[in-house]
Amino acid sequence: MDNAKGTDQLQETDPSLKNYRDAVRNHWDPAEIDYKNDVEALVDLDEVNFTVLRSVIAQIGLGEEDVVEDLHPFFAITKTTSDAMFLSTQQYEEAKHADFFTRYWYQAINSAEDIRGMETTEPDDDQWLTESYIAQSKRLNDDMNKLLDKRSPHDCARAFANYHLTQEGILFQSGFHWLRKMYNGNNIDNPRLPALMEGAAKISQDEARHVDYGVRKLTDLVEIEQIDPVEIDEHVSNVLPLIQDLLSTIITPKSGKIDEKEIIMFMRKNHTKRMKNISKNNQFESFIDSISN
Ligand SMILES: [Fe+2]
Ligand SMILES: [Fe+2]
Repeated sequence: MDNAKGTDQLQETDPSLKNYRDAVRNHWDPAEIDYKNDVEALVDLDEVNFTVLRSVIAQIGLGEEDVVEDLHPFFAITKTTSDAMFLSTQQYEEAKHADFFTRYWYQAINSAEDIRGMETTEPDDDQWLTESYIAQSKRLNDDMNKLLDKRSPHDCARAFANYHLTQEGILFQSGFHWLRKMYNGNNIDNPRLPALMEGAAKISQDEARHVDYGVRKLTDLVEIEQIDPVEIDEHVSNVLPLIQDLLSTIITPKSGKIDEKEIIMFMRKNHTKRMKNISKNNQFESFIDSISN
């Protein structure tokens, strides 16, 4: 990088540098959130919703730990300083996301469990994890580790498709969408959870930058390495059973106005838009359209 120009000028033409600067400007600290603000509402939550909420938070929190551990192989395939600078911010932000969910568990959820007279739980207790979650965790780890070996452009496409489009673009963003819809205070059946909302809003901002980076790298692989966009979409389709399994976890009789259809529409709209960008084809038809609603 030509340091004489400085990052402020270069970011105008280098999107990775722009994302890096956005990350620096939008720094936040999970330790500054007051998790005790949510305890009272968590104590009042009915049993079904309290169980579902804990399961969703446990699975997203452990998913964040997975992406902390699995990001580093992208550094091995990075060719520019600006990409490495952006990835450094992503590595740091994923650590903060895992930190947020750990704090939420021990400071808010465990306190509420205690007041409710329940045994306190751990976020990695078997009761919170579905088989599909465990399968996706392993698949992500395998796809990322391939980048450390002799990797082809196909291996790179698979890793970006799994990490950025699936884990972040579908699982995390749909999870945060559901959390916001349920607990932002606009759902008459559920209380507002201010600490959870504060963290979800900040994490979602970070995730948007991360997904943007993955979409750009996949666009490059299509343009430069002639990777077929259908191949990328198929990698994402492998997670279809996980999506459906997670949906069955979060859709309950007491989910208020949030139903399966709304979550599917949210995923479909965002994923299809990304695939249209990657393929530069406005007519691109994604696998996700095959999910019934
Ligand atoms: Fe994250
Ligand atoms: Fe992320």
